[in-house]
Amino acid sequence: MLGVTYKSEAAHVFSDAEVEELAEKAAEFNASVGITGYLYYAHPVFLQYIEGETEAIESLMEQIAKDPRHTIVATAKDEDRVSRRFPSWSMRLFQPGRDPEINLQSIWSDMLSIEALDWPGERSNSIWRCIEKISSTQA
Ligand SMILES: Cc1cc2nc3c(=O)[nH]c(=O)nc-3n(C[C@H](O)[C@H](O)[C@H](O)COP(=O)(O)O)c2cc1C
Repeated sequence: MLGVTYKSEAAHVFSDAEVEELAEKAAEFNASVGITGYLYYAHPVFLQYIEGETEAIESLMEQIAKDPRHTIVATAKDEDRVSRRFPSWSMRLFQPGRDPEINLQSIWSDMLSIEALDWPGERSNSIWRCIEKISSTQA
């Protein structure tokens, strides 16, 4: 299994409806090919994590990278995973201030504070630690 996280910059401001539709379509496709993960959007940044069979992830990443709605600025891979971090999320959408039941704001601000050029770089461990924390919030 392969886990991939990336940070990208949105090409325009997404309305709530737009980002919800994107996440809904993504969840539908992801469920059909056994991909799980989450998508966080806080304009202008998207932070996404996807996991699944290596081939499925590589092929989806190719699609996502070609998408003109954003530009990927940094990617980190976690190869040879044996289990999923988000078994029950086909593509969970997070937006700032929208998930009061889970206090993720500090985790996101840690991730967002990691400068693009330096991401993951030396901060790689802290990114995976943040992702583990998000995983621990899963019901
Ligand atoms: C930030 C972002 C995240 C995306 N995540 C996914 C995803 O997890 N799964 C998915 O199927 N499509 C995702 N997409 C959409 C794909 O880029 C692409 O539109 C989709 O694979 C359909 O491609 P097609 O229209 O060429 O068939 C995402 C797009 C963006 C901008």
